Amino acid sequence: MQQIWRPYTQMKTAEPPAWIDRAEGALLYSKEGHAIIDGISSWWVNLHGHAHPRIAAAIAEQASQLEHVIFAGFTHAPAERLTAKLIAQLPEGQNHVFFSDNGSTAVEVALKMAIQSQGPGRQGILAFEHAYHGDTFGAMSVSGASLFTAPFSSYLFDVQRIPAPTPGREAEALDCLNKHLKQGSYSAFIFEPLIQGTAGMVVHCAQTLSRMMDLCHQYQVITIADEVMTGFGRTGTLFASDQLSCKPRIMCFSKGLTGGFLPMGATSCDSSLFESFLSDDPKKTFFHGHSYTGNPIGCAAALESLRILLSNECQHQITWISQQHAAFADRIKAHPHLADLRRLGTILALEIRADSGYLSTLRHDLYTFCLNRGVLLRPLGNVLYTIPPYCITSEQLQQIHETMEAALSTLGTTR
Ligand SMILES: Cc1ncc(COP(=O)(O)O)c(C=O)c1O
Repeated sequence: MQQIWRPYTQMKTAEPPAWIDRAEGALLYSKEGHAIIDGISSWWVNLHGHAHPRIAAAIAEQASQLEHVIFAGFTHAPAERLTAKLIAQLPEGQNHVFFSDNGSTAVEVALKMAIQSQGPGRQGILAFEHAYHGDTFGAMSVSGASLFTAPFSSYLFDVQRIPAPTPGREAEALDCLNKHLKQGSYSAFIFEPLIQGTAGMVVHCAQTLSRMMDLCHQYQVITIADEVMTGFGRTGTLFASDQLSCKPRIMCFSKGLTGGFLPMGATSCDSSLFESFLSDDPKKTFFHGHSYTGNPIGCAAALESLRILLSNECQHQITWISQQHAAFADRIKAHPHLADLRRLGTILALEIRADSGYLSTLRHDLYTFCLNRGVLLRPLGNVLYTIPPYCITSEQLQQIHETMEAALSTLGTTR
């Protein structure tokens, strides 16, 4: 009887997990000694490669000095330094940072900040169809109704869903938002900026999204950019919001925040939102805090990861990966099995002509095919995508692209 209850595992048909002993750069090494290229940065978290010596050293040094201290009423250098460094890089207006544990909690914090700041006069949240914001109850509520949320649907709060501004749906998305803003009095609009990851790497029109955010601000609706996946260079800029002409009032981060080493979440906001909590009235307190909030080791990892990210070498790698994806996309764009091809920065997604859906057998077949070729790619239904660590070598990236192409060709013979 298995003792570990693994995420996203169908109990009865579960295959034994691959046992990973160690990892270095973009490579994972199995117990049997096989090397596997981590083409999805281990669920989109790893930025600079596994076991990066600089981040490992920063963690070791911090652990031997101060491993943790309660963050209510206390502070420490790693949190102070990280906050200053983050704020310096964030889009204009983001002046305050609240730490939590992961992407879902970063979203919970953002929602609670917005709702409490707006007060009871405003009710309702706007979110995109097919969104994914995490697995906790608030995050599930603002996510699109799906297989993931179905067993809990009656426990989730109501959210007004609007279409995302995907190619061809820009006007519809804008009109729908406009209609709801005129009719209701919403407190917040939450969205994954420019690309919806779990929905299948669905790319948005930056101009329309900016106009939608602008419209929200006109109606005093707080905009929340969930940059849990898009943050820290994935979309080609440091944050996806850098590509928007309108800036969000709240932003959520996790995944790449610590370079993929330790779980940590952060929610930033503008000064006017922060100041709405400044009061002598104890009822105005933001009653939210996790035991490990502001963990010094996590902060030390995040600081070192940010230093690496901002280096010329890493910025060059991000540009180079985007260019390699573009060249590959250009070469295979006419493949008969492709329904769509999407890319943004270091993210490349091939949508395969097939029955869509997370549970399609295609997903499992593609996953196994790629893994057998030494590449970890975990398709989202019929969408085969890669989001590699920035340290990926030319040979490794070529192997990912070749494996994706080979997977497409296999469909030709087996379907
Ligand atoms: C956009 C977005 N928000 C939130 C989350 C939840 O993050 P976590 O898994 O760390 O709770 C994810 C996870 O994939 C995500 O992609």
